[in-house]
Amino acid sequence: MESMNHELTECIINRAIGVFDSGIGGITVLKELIRKFPFENFIYLGDTARLPYGSKSPDTVRQYSLQNMDFLISRNVKAIVVACNTASTQIFETDYKNTPIYNVIDPGAKKAALATENKKIAVLATRATVAAGSYTLKIKLHLPDAEVFSQACPLFVPLAEEGWHDDPITNLIAFRYLQNLKSLDIDTAVLGCTHYPLLKSAIAKVFGNHVALIDSGEALAEELAIDFERSRMPQKTLFEHGSLTLCLTDAGQQFENLSLNLLSEVISIQPQFETVSVI
Ligand code: DGL
Repeated sequence: MESMNHELTECIINRAIGVFDSGIGGITVLKELIRKFPFENFIYLGDTARLPYGSKSPDTVRQYSLQNMDFLISRNVKAIVVACNTASTQIFETDYKNTPIYNVIDPGAKKAALATENKKIAVLATRATVAAGSYTLKIKLHLPDAEVFSQACPLFVPLAEEGWHDDPITNLIAFRYLQNLKSLDIDTAVLGCTHYPLLKSAIAKVFGNHVALIDSGEALAEELAIDFERSRMPQKTLFEHGSLTLCLTDAGQQFENLSLNLLSEVISIQPQFETVSVI
């Protein structure tokens, strides 16, 4: 019996961790996960055929997210990271078909509540995430008297996909979206869309150094580390670099170039690219 359990654990250990987003944004989360767990195998799914999610209705976002999760489960993953805030507002499960599910809003909200000193927090996100109100709700769970100001910045997503991360046009658009928040004396701003960390420098230029910019990638990796320790799922600790497969629902050279560039710091072997259908 004991040896059977051992064999089962051994078999789960080698399964990949599945990560998904609508496009390039989730790569910012994947990067932190690979940095923290270099020996794990990862499968990333970018639903590029249906991007953006931020302009879709809650029902559509949930339907797309469930299809993405089913696809990752069909690839036998041991856990799923919903590396998309918009999708995270519609996925309430912490387990789905016996697979642990991690969202990016819980760790982001907690990190922001811990970071603020004056309790004035801005949340920058997609229209769908702002409309769902999840950040306000979850920040207030940690800090009931926090003042939360939400701002939708939909044009940040195509700018991130285009690779215009540090560009005069991006600076201008960031200024247009964020100038009103400047007068509200916020000391913390949540990058509540996984695409936005790519535009960090443009956002920081508007807010200045005294505003802490929070992204959830690192905090999420910490959460996974805790769950590995608590044995929610087994961790691969063999000292060999894990594999990485990047699946896209619509192939694109731009995505391939950009993702390779963003991940270059943390990967030493060439990832595999696949075009897949999740429907
Ligand atoms: N990166 C996603 C998020 O965190 C969604 C961007 C989009 O597709 O609109 O919300």
